[in-house]
Amino acid sequence: MRAEISAKNSSVSRASHEIPTVTLKELEADPHAVFRAYRKQFPVVLLQETGGYFVLRFSDVDCVSKDPRLHAVGTVFAETQGFNSGTIFDAFDYGMLTADGDAHRRRRAPFSRLFAARAINEMRPSIRRAAEDLIEEWYGIGEVNFFDEFAAKMPARVIADLLGLPREDIPEFTLLVYVVTKAFFLGLGPDEVVEVEKAGQRLREYVDKVLDERRRRPRGDFLSAFLAAATEAGEMSPAEMLYQIFALIVGGTDTTRVAIAIQVALLLQHREQWEQVCRDPDLLSGAVAEAMRFEPSVGGTARVTSEDVDVGGTVIPAGQLVMLSTMSATRDEMAYDRPDVFDIHRTNQPRLHPIFGYGAHRCIGEAIARAELEESLGAIAARIPQLNLDVPPKISGHFGIRRADVMRVSWKP
Ligand code: HEM
Repeated sequence: MRAEISAKNSSVSRASHEIPTVTLKELEADPHAVFRAYRKQFPVVLLQETGGYFVLRFSDVDCVSKDPRLHAVGTVFAETQGFNSGTIFDAFDYGMLTADGDAHRRRRAPFSRLFAARAINEMRPSIRRAAEDLIEEWYGIGEVNFFDEFAAKMPARVIADLLGLPREDIPEFTLLVYVVTKAFFLGLGPDEVVEVEKAGQRLREYVDKVLDERRRRPRGDFLSAFLAAATEAGEMSPAEMLYQIFALIVGGTDTTRVAIAIQVALLLQHREQWEQVCRDPDLLSGAVAEAMRFEPSVGGTARVTSEDVDVGGTVIPAGQLVMLSTMSATRDEMAYDRPDVFDIHRTNQPRLHPIFGYGAHRCIGEAIARAELEESLGAIAARIPQLNLDVPPKISGHFGIRRADVMRVSWKP
């Protein structure tokens, strides 16, 4: 299925005078400040370099996510980024995230049971053990790059165990995933497009190889069951099967890696709240929800308008790329008291956390992500309450999956 709307259309209204324009440079320097500066007065801002409208307010992001006049991006976003054919293009073309209606339903349905909250909650004890085992690998050393040695390893182990991928494959697929997720950054340069496409091809080959092995020798794991059920239902092509697994590996690895690092860093930067969490495990889920609000690991989601849409009094024309800014919405002063204050005791968190999106595409991995985040934090707070943050991670990015890097912590064993 090719999207009907051409990526080129997204530049049509770049010259609009009523809507402020923001640049990638400004956003990269301080996205929260840019969104804060415009949000009260303007519901929407336009991105200068690539076109595309950021929706800034909580209530608009909520409404627009459910508005039938906005569609999944199909291949529009990929084309805007310079992926006009090849693996990354196909990942958008055959994925669930980028499809609407029946194609989306067919591609998502086989995963619903595996990823349901009840099934995932049964896995919590093993997720907690995985976190505790990881900590013991380096506890005696007294210092570590937390980002590489914990935040990156936890989600990779969980997704590998869930899907039945061998743990020895983790280094190979995680490195590829970290490059592939750049496909969601805005304004990629030509060299980056080549780098991302190459990583995409290698990840596709890896998934292809694993699926081929399971087809020839089913193992009683999730992938074997998925292939058997999908083949019997006859609703998905081999390419669709491949790209759903590709999407789960990509979606399940980097999002949570960044979120785990962010939440521990934020708590250590607010020492009193860290100590409260260490004393009282009942505070864990509130702490995780607040960290996701304050500094989300996913900056926003994309849609395309199929007709003119009024967003808070500003009309976004048909055929435009729209970026629903989670980062802006979760700091909206009209939705949250003191939005720029990190407070794990906040009582006004919405029932559905905006960081996981809304509507048909709401994150299928939400229960896994929450379990990983809460069990990771619980294990660290219980084992190393004396943890110190020596080098905080530098968090960057304003859309798609955000970035963090080195995060050094130390403690007296
Ligand atoms: C903190 C961690 C995570 C965050 C912030 C996050 C965020 C999101 C968001 C915002 C969406 C909706 C996108 C849209 O509406 O366009 C989404 C969809 C999705 N997520 Fe996540 N996610 C996380 C973890 C995970 C995990 C652990 C997995 C897999 C195990 C996963 C797999 C997916 C998939 C496959 C979709 C597409 C669903 C669909 O289109 O129906 N995510 N995620």
